[in-house]
Order: sequence, then C-alpha cells, then structure tokens
Amino acid sequence: MLIAIEDLLSSADLLQITAQLQDARWLDGKDTATGPAKAVKHNLQLDSYSPALAEIRSLIVQRLSTSMLFQSAALPRHIFPPLVNCHRDGGEYGLHTDSAILTLPDHTPVRSDLSATIFLTPAEDYDGGELVIESTYGAQSIKLGAGDMVLYPSSSLHCVNPVTRGSRIAACFWVQSLLANPQQREQLFELDQSIQSLTVERGTQCPQVQRLTAVYHNLVRMWATP
Ligand code: NI
Repeated sequence: MLIAIEDLLSSADLLQITAQLQDARWLDGKDTATGPAKAVKHNLQLDSYSPALAEIRSLIVQRLSTSMLFQSAALPRHIFPPLVNCHRDGGEYGLHTDSAILTLPDHTPVRSDLSATIFLTPAEDYDGGELVIESTYGAQSIKLGAGDMVLYPSSSLHCVNPVTRGSRIAACFWVQSLLANPQQREQLFELDQSIQSLTVERGTQCPQVQRLTAVYHNLVRMWATP
C-alpha cells in the first residue's frame, strides 16, 4: 500500500527548514548505507551531528504526531528519526531495499515496516529525482510537491532517479508499526477511513458508528504487538 500525505509540512515549516539548511554540513551518503545499498547510493546526507538535523527531526516528528492520516495508516510503534539527503549533479540512489532492522542511539532495535520520503524541494526546481517503487502493480514513479510525503512498504525494492538539474532535498524515515502484518494494517486503515467518513455523515452517537468503532479497536487488540 502506497499512501501520499499532502501538506504534511506547511509553507512556514518549509521556510524554517530552508533557513536551517543554509550553512548545513553535507557528508557522503554512503556513510549511512549498509550492505549492497552502499554501492548504489550516490547522494549527500546532512551531518547527523548537525544542530539543523535535530531541529528538523523534532519538527517532522511533531507534524507526524498530529497527522490523522499518518497515524491511521502506520499505527506507529517506533519512528526511526528522519535523515535528510540531497541529490544533485546526476546523483541517484540505485535500486535497493531498506535494512530490516535499524538501531536507535539507545540501542533499541526498530523493525522497518514502512519507509517514508518527505519532499522538501518544489518539484519544478529540479529534473529527475523521482522515487520509483516496485510493487505488485508494477513500478510506480513518485514526485510530490514540497511538504508532501509518501509512505510505502519497506519490503519493496525502490530507487531515486538521477537528478539532472537543480537539487532535490528530502527527508526519509522508517516506522515500526504496532502491526507487523501489512494486510492486517491495510484492513484496519480501510476500516478506520470508512468510520471517519461515516462519523462526519452521522455523528459519533450513531449506533452503527459506535459498533464499527468497537470492531476497529477489538481488531487492534487482537493484532497489535505493542
Ligand atoms: Ni531506501
């Protein structure tokens, strides 16, 4: 399941991030890749010790906590803090899969169930740079506006096409969901979205809305591994 979340970041958020990136130090992206991904990663990564990165991470995590669409789709247990990368001068990230287990600074292992890219540069400011994700429906090419985000299964093979004009700055992060099973997660997402629509139409006191809400929570109880 691929989900686009538009305007996760506001124009004010983007202005703040652009200002924070003014004097930022960029390092070789290979430093944060492991295994075969190292060989195909040709981009720059914001220095992980940069104060700008700490600020950007905190802003993104704040926005994710209030995005109902993100919470509904991901049911997050852990979020591996965002990394910020830059592709330019033909830079690309060849076909790869993300590591299954990531480790937080406090040594907590995080299973990557979902991967996310937040586009930070307006699409018209660069050529190329599409995120291409292989799925059972074929390859999907994704290039969203600044502040928009795409959430996709970490199990999928994906790549970033070469950026042939301008620079493409993006933030990437990974989520361990309360539900490891993607099919269960997808069914809960569908159910939750339907309940949200019905609630708008009929109100929270509608008996059918209350029953469906109970079913939703009972399924989470059955399937979640907190
Ligand atoms: Ni990746």
